[in-house]
Amino acid sequence: ALPAVQRAGSVKQQISNLVAFSLRATVPEVDVEPTVEVCTTKFGDYQCNNAMGLWSKVKGSGTNFKNPNAIGQAIAKNLPACDVIESTSVAGPGFVNIVLSNSWVAKRIQDMLVNGIKTWAPILPVKRIVLDFSSPNIAKEMHVGHLRSTIIGDTLARMFEFSNVDVLRRNHVGDWGTQFGMLIEFLFEKFPEWEELGSQAIGDLQLFYKASKEKFDNDAEFKDRAQQAVVRLQGGEEKYRSAWKKICEISRNEFDKVYKLLDVHLEEKGESFYNPYIPQVLEGLSNQGFIKESEGARVIFIEGHKIPLIVVKRDGGFNYASTDLAALWYRLNVEKAEWIIYVTDVGQQLHFDMFFKAARMAGWIPGPNEKKFPKASHVGFGLVLGADGKRFRTRNTEVVRLGDLLDEAKSRSKSELVQRLTDNGKIVDWTEEELEKTSKAVGYGAVKYADLKNNRLTNYTFSFDQMLSDKGNTAVYLQYAHARICSIIRKSNMDVEELKMNGDISLGHPDERVLGLYLIRFAEVVEDACTTLLPNVLCEYLYNLSEMFTRFYTNCQVVGSPEEPSRLLLCEATAVVMRQCFQLLGITAVYKL
Ligand code: ARG
Repeated sequence: ALPAVQRAGSVKQQISNLVAFSLRATVPEVDVEPTVEVCTTKFGDYQCNNAMGLWSKVKGSGTNFKNPNAIGQAIAKNLPACDVIESTSVAGPGFVNIVLSNSWVAKRIQDMLVNGIKTWAPILPVKRIVLDFSSPNIAKEMHVGHLRSTIIGDTLARMFEFSNVDVLRRNHVGDWGTQFGMLIEFLFEKFPEWEELGSQAIGDLQLFYKASKEKFDNDAEFKDRAQQAVVRLQGGEEKYRSAWKKICEISRNEFDKVYKLLDVHLEEKGESFYNPYIPQVLEGLSNQGFIKESEGARVIFIEGHKIPLIVVKRDGGFNYASTDLAALWYRLNVEKAEWIIYVTDVGQQLHFDMFFKAARMAGWIPGPNEKKFPKASHVGFGLVLGADGKRFRTRNTEVVRLGDLLDEAKSRSKSELVQRLTDNGKIVDWTEEELEKTSKAVGYGAVKYADLKNNRLTNYTFSFDQMLSDKGNTAVYLQYAHARICSIIRKSNMDVEELKMNGDISLGHPDERVLGLYLIRFAEVVEDACTTLLPNVLCEYLYNLSEMFTRFYTNCQVVGSPEEPSRLLLCEATAVVMRQCFQLLGITAVYKL
């Protein structure tokens, strides 16, 4: 961990600390949290909005304050003397406008350049998170929904990890359930030598699933055997367990290829892992009186829902909900997570609503208005649509194969790159290896960014043309913007490393100041994206930052100007922050494009 002085938190947090100090002096009788926001007018950089709320608390209680404006004046006056704030003013009903001092902003940027961007990590009120994402089902396809879950979940994990939170990245794969009976029987039938099979040998697992399902539906004798196989598997019979393991292993190999392409790391703890915990968890809930008998099944009735949550099916088997209850129990009590986050399509919202409510009833997690932690959150997302406005599919297959998608994005961006470099006569400066690496970074990044830049709840249309365009809010545009900054720095004769140590940043020009202020907002943006679980908040920031840089660069000459040392440092700081954004979004930054 970094020393306390360096981990000061976001600018908003630092100003909140100053405001908290002032509030204690201004209204010692009232205990109130500071409310500090980015200023919405030109009169300040940040503003404190506490006065009006305080007024409604103190008026009529013999207070000396005459109105909210007077409280605002007092809050401003009682701010501790420090080098952060240049000036304050009070508007209307007591909004305190706060102008930051240029030298403090400059120093903060310079400190970051010297000590690294990690010093700008926000401080979050949570130590350990279980992040349940990706979570495809064994032997079924990994569909576009799982891809979204993988991309969104990985970004959330990266943002929390950057903020020094311990993140348990959990792949809750569907590796348990009645479908395994038919898969195992089908394996025995098609591959009598199944024990010797390598993991590639049964070919396409989805086709295997389809064929076994067809047999299950049409062959009564097979169906019978499959159902017995489930019982034998769950009874722990050796042969059945190793067949099950084999099938899982083959599936896992397929999933891992995708994770490798996407550079995503996950630890698998599938549904089967929690299976042994289900009986004791249900017994606990039963002892608390929450589990009832209903039409042969065992269920939990939940306020506001007509249909109860089924936890034991009529045939006595456990299901998705009972597994999730056991998993939540495990995550809270064994893994000691304070925040458990699930990333799935919004279609599963009802399931999560109900099962969270059941957990709340049982007292596992506090109600929404009580303590903050532990808590459980469902991160839902919308559909990926094709150009026809329907659920996205590729030309000839029912399912979208991620490998193919990424490949296509890469080869498209490669041909664009080659085209452009050839036109400019610059292709000679590039090795084949560089071309490959760059088009991979640009192409893969484009696919991820197209997914992340939208509010996750909205559906988005998958379009190569759009995501690979170098105009507008795309990863390609942002890669260009970053590479251009790198080229400015390369063009200068000055040594940035040396300047970091001995140079000074000044923010005299309005566009320099706007850029500097936006740079130091980085920490609060990451904090905001983590708190709201919305990666698009970070994408918006990254895009705005590149726009602000463009304005600065258009109006402030860098190379060859008297301000070159300071401006070069601003270029470097922008590049560092952009790269950190790319890293958090799982995108490889390129330095030359
Ligand atoms: N395997 C599930 C599916 O494909 C997603 C699991 C999400 N995680 C959970 N704990 N329910 O829909």
